[in-house]
Amino acid sequence: MCGIIGYIGNKDITPLLLDGLQKLEYRGYDSAGICVSDKQQLKTVKAKGKISELAKKVKSKTLNGAIGIAHTRWATHGEPNEANAHPHLDCKQELAIVHNGIIENHQALTELLKKEGHKIKSQTDSEIIAHLVEKFYKNDLEAAVRQALKLIEGAFGLAVIHKDENKIVVARKGSPLIIGVGENEMFIASDIPAILEHTKRVIYLNDNEIAVITQGKYIITNLEGEQINKEVDEIKWNVEQMEKKGFKHFMLKEIMEQPEAIANTLRGRIKDGKVKLTVDFDIQKINRIIITACGTSWHSALIGKHFLESIAQIPAEVDYASEFRYRSPIVSSEDVMVVISQSGETADTLAALREAKVKQAKTLGIVNVVGSTITREVDSGIYLHVGPEIGVASTKAFTSQVVALLLLALYIRQQQGHEIDKDLLKQLDKIPYQINQALKQADNIKEVAAKFVDSKNFLYLGRGLNFPVALEGALKLKEISYIHAEGYPAAEIKHGPIALIDEDMPVVFVATKNNLSQKIISNMQEVKARDGNIIAIVSQDDKEISKLADSIIKVPEVIDELSPIINAIPLQLLAYYIADLKGLDVDKPRNLAKSVTVE
Ligand code: AGP
Repeated sequence: MCGIIGYIGNKDITPLLLDGLQKLEYRGYDSAGICVSDKQQLKTVKAKGKISELAKKVKSKTLNGAIGIAHTRWATHGEPNEANAHPHLDCKQELAIVHNGIIENHQALTELLKKEGHKIKSQTDSEIIAHLVEKFYKNDLEAAVRQALKLIEGAFGLAVIHKDENKIVVARKGSPLIIGVGENEMFIASDIPAILEHTKRVIYLNDNEIAVITQGKYIITNLEGEQINKEVDEIKWNVEQMEKKGFKHFMLKEIMEQPEAIANTLRGRIKDGKVKLTVDFDIQKINRIIITACGTSWHSALIGKHFLESIAQIPAEVDYASEFRYRSPIVSSEDVMVVISQSGETADTLAALREAKVKQAKTLGIVNVVGSTITREVDSGIYLHVGPEIGVASTKAFTSQVVALLLLALYIRQQQGHEIDKDLLKQLDKIPYQINQALKQADNIKEVAAKFVDSKNFLYLGRGLNFPVALEGALKLKEISYIHAEGYPAAEIKHGPIALIDEDMPVVFVATKNNLSQKIISNMQEVKARDGNIIAIVSQDDKEISKLADSIIKVPEVIDELSPIINAIPLQLLAYYIADLKGLDVDKPRNLAKSVTVE
């Protein structure tokens, strides 16, 4: 989604803003722009496409100044082109805005502003904010922004500058925005990576907060103008974690760092045969658990449901956050809503969380990004601690979410006064080592990828805990290679998808050893009988399944509960190598955004 960076201070502003934009690239974008104030006029440069295009155009202009805002746009209203790129300016070219979010009543406001003589130049919903602020501007930018916000319906992370004022006015409702506090300089950004190189001290704005930022100061108020004192948080991530460290892509780096990432998720949470978590509500009183999430996080939720039901013996439901929020769900104060989100900013997941809170449910977040909005709104939480995930396709967050959900199920069982499976705990503790073993298949997987790089469709099949893994494998392939892929419970193919199978259809079976192995073998035979091309993920010592498969990928044998973690690894690598062999932009696939902060 759109990315915002702003700066006020003495540094060379243009490279700083361009660099910030580059660090936000991973969020997904299709155009970018920058606006710098030299106190006499605003200078704006915009470009369609990559930040490098913008940088080329910026070179031919002198953009000096002490205040600037910049933006990467992920199109919602209006095609990706220069006119629609931010920053947007008012008619007099005296003020500029950058916006992340959607203005829902933009059509009505556009009519109003046009009647008053404003010339709207773009097709975006965002430009009207510049004209609204212009309408109300009487030598006080903050006051004008406040008045404009009264008319706006929708979501915004917003930054506004005026050529006559030494300040950036920012506001937030629904879309993330942080203030970076430096030494005699201040930053604003929609995400930490944009400013991490300059400061680790940040303030997270909440919804309906407005901040006026000058070079050495910030004042935060609510919509009524009352001042709010907020803590400055210290970011624990470091700049090196944001680098590729010799890997061709962030996605590959993030796949490869899973042993360490999972070790970090586990650190301090298994001790003396017990699970240590901090859950601030009475686990004994749980009636039911509802898990909501989107995309990859929803896949881990499906695995979590198995754990919660089989280990903690608690009824668990899984809902797409986007569906939960609009279907009048029955939720009570005895229910616990678990929200899973890598970013902690996904708009639908956040809305589902808020809906559950209104209905008095207790809430627990399984989140990676420390300080993100979801972490600030849940009653309790489990951080993933896997470090920044930059590749748009989620990898290490997925395996870590599965680990966190397993820990949660074991913890609930333990808090209910039952014995927990000590062997499972021991195996879980060793899982980083097994992940490392699975990663050693990378070269073999690359060869398999080469065989199927030109396939147009894929089926991914799995059963039990590995059905969600099949879904996740298919999602990875779709996202980064643009190949159509479907995930199904293996036994379901007879009810429809089997009609698709012929010699051109690769079918990926997640077929590691478990109590359903014989059933999977039958499903494979059904595919084989129709000339399907089988790629099988099998346990290290497998002999039987391998005979049926055209390509095999071996993974270390683990107990069933841990198999989703191990089996996800080859599927991540398969998708990665296919996309890379196709020469695609693996880390920034078309049309996608890392953090989906609009509905
Ligand atoms: C994963 O590869 C996707 N890019 C996407 O499905 C993602 O998992 C989804 O948008 C949810 O994001 P979150 O975990 O940050 O909430």
